[in-house]
Parts: sequence; structure tokens; C-alpha cells
Amino acid sequence: MDVKQDVVSIDDLVRTVVANANFEGADKGKLVVFEGSRNASVRGDRSLLQSVFENVVRNALRHTPSGTTVTISAKQAADDTLVVVVEDCGPGVPEAQIEEIFKPFVRGDYARNRASGGYGIGLAIAHAAVRKHGGTITAANRTNGGFCVKISLPILKS
Ligand SMILES: Nc1ncnc2c1ncn2[C@@H]1O[C@H](COP(=O)(O)OP(=O)(O)O)[C@@H](O)[C@H]1O
Ligand SMILES: [Mg+2]
Repeated sequence: MDVKQDVVSIDDLVRTVVANANFEGADKGKLVVFEGSRNASVRGDRSLLQSVFENVVRNALRHTPSGTTVTISAKQAADDTLVVVVEDCGPGVPEAQIEEIFKPFVRGDYARNRASGGYGIGLAIAHAAVRKHGGTITAANRTNGGFCVKISLPILKS
């Protein structure tokens, strides 16, 4: 499948996702903060890229406890790559399952036992979409608790 060739401002895109997420999280006292720094553009499919960030930010918002903050940052890596990092204060994922969560229909026990949430395809779709744009998506537990998802995308040279 060909990828559309929009010029997509990641800053604008993430700000839209953050506004929606803050609306969603407000009643539980959850805050989403965007520490944008590098306003880079990426060539690709705007709505597909938006769905990537929506999925990842929604996951973070769901798992972060009430009264905590989800933090998103966008930074340029040395090699013309934009790195967007989404961090929460939730339980994280057992180390052995971290690679599995990018496969379709894989959901953690914690998520499976909850009435809310999706079907375990959000990260699989995100993984495929990021790869189509020449990027990578990885995840890790944070050293002091919480989960961290890192999305790297090639910056469009102006
Ligand atoms: N921020 C997060 N904190 C803890 N677990 C997460 C987080 N994001 C994803 N996961 C785990 O990865 C699984 C797969 O995520 P996803 O593909 O988005 O499916 P879904 O959101 O429908 O459960 C989730 O069920 C959950 O177990
Ligand atoms: Mg999800």
C-alpha cells in the first residue's frame, strides 16, 4: 500500500491529540503535557500518523493513575530523525511481554481485566503505520516506574 504524501507538522498533530486526551482525562484528574521542542515535519499520511499518536497517548492515559501526568516530548535525534516520547506513570508491562504488545490482539492481563479499552490492535496498527513512514516504534519500562513509548520518524528536509 502506498503512503499518502502530505507534509505533516508533528507539532500540530501532537497538539491536536493532546487537546483531545486532556478533554478525556480531565474528569479523572489526568493531565497530558506536551513538551514540544523541535517543530519538524514528516512526509506521509496525516490521518494515519494521527492515529498512531492517538493510540499511544490513549494507552498512556488509560494506564496512568488518576492525578498523574502523561508527558510527551518531541526532540531531534542527531541523524535527522524526530523522536516523540510518550511517558506515563502506570504499571508498565512485564519485560518479557514488551515485544509482544506490538502484535495484533495481544493485551496485557491488566488491560484484559478491564471493561474499557480496545481489542489489542492499537499498537499493531501503530507499528505498521510507523514502519510505512520509514520510522520505528519501541517501548520500555521507565526506571522509576511507568511506561515509555518512543516513536522515531524521518524529518522532512525543508
Ligand atoms: N502505557 C501502557 N502502560 C501499560 N501497558 C500498556 C501501555 N500501552 C500498552 N500497554 C499494553 O499493551 C497492550 C496492547 O496495547 P494496544 O495494542 O493498544 O491494545 P489495547 O489498548 O486495545 O489493549 C495493552 O493491552 C496493555 O497490556
Ligand atoms: Mg490501545
